[in-house]
Amino acid sequence: MLIQKSADIRPSEITPPELYARRREFLKTAAVLGAAALLPPVLHGNVARAADDDLKPTPYKDITSYNNFYEFGSSKTDPAEYAGGLKTKPWTVAVEGNCEKPGQYALEDFLAPHQPEERIYRLRCVEAWSMVVPWLGVPMSKILPRFQPTANAKYVEFTTLLDPAQMPGQRTRILDWPYVEGLRMDEAMHPLTLFATGLYGKELPNQNGAPLRLVVPWKYGFKSIKSIVKIRFTEEQPRTTWNLQAPHEYGFYANVNPDVDHPRWSQKRERRIGDLFRRDTLPFNGYAEQVAGLYAGMDLRKNF
Ligand code: MTE
Repeated sequence: MLIQKSADIRPSEITPPELYARRREFLKTAAVLGAAALLPPVLHGNVARAADDDLKPTPYKDITSYNNFYEFGSSKTDPAEYAGGLKTKPWTVAVEGNCEKPGQYALEDFLAPHQPEERIYRLRCVEAWSMVVPWLGVPMSKILPRFQPTANAKYVEFTTLLDPAQMPGQRTRILDWPYVEGLRMDEAMHPLTLFATGLYGKELPNQNGAPLRLVVPWKYGFKSIKSIVKIRFTEEQPRTTWNLQAPHEYGFYANVNPDVDHPRWSQKRERRIGDLFRRDTLPFNGYAEQVAGLYAGMDLRKNF
């Protein structure tokens, strides 16, 4: 969790893309001058990390034109080209399964009363490229309790819209539609986990999963399911699209792990979009301090 603003932030207060680089410079200078020592502890932590060049946000243009969203085609440029027509307003999210308050919720009610916060996270794709994305989102831990999951709710399953008329990729059998994903309840409730609704201070572009997508920064990008229309509290581990497609290549956990290679390529290094040289991939994508405890005692080679 990095630059995080208070819950009552207005969209107009969010830093526009062109100011990001300058703000980073300011933070860097502040850290160098020792001004950081004067800041409150939480912000101090943010300054220390924001000063790290590792968190320079990837340009808006790259985040929104180099995408994976197979519902619109399998090439990286397809989503930006074909997702524009997806109708994201109005949008309804169904809540089902082991909870006291199931129902069909208008997106606004699903998120209410929470305003999106800004979080700058690394996104590491299983294809060994990465980005840094300034998301706008609401921590899932603020939203899920409202539906009063029961003691049997051990996992949350997420489902993307199924609508071949709007999503041309769904007219092919390239994946088993609709796209589904899942998290263990404690992963979903971890403070880093977001329902994202925007990036760079703006509404989420369709190609990035409008109007509602999952963001779990310590897992490979394929966990971050887009255009969510349903969540379901389950007792059993949910099935997930890429695991169904190729079980030996894509596990349920999908934790970023430089020590566990993909069967067809290494995961030790990654190419940050826009960089010339590759860099080392960090365990849990650099969030080990916050999340490693969730997996204490688990064999992460088996649970990949
Ligand atoms: N969600 C849906 N519904 N369909 C997809 O094809 N691709 C996943 C994930 N979410 C995908 C999806 C993969 S493989 C990645 S790496 C990320 O979205 C990419 O997110 P981005 O395009 O915003 O970078």
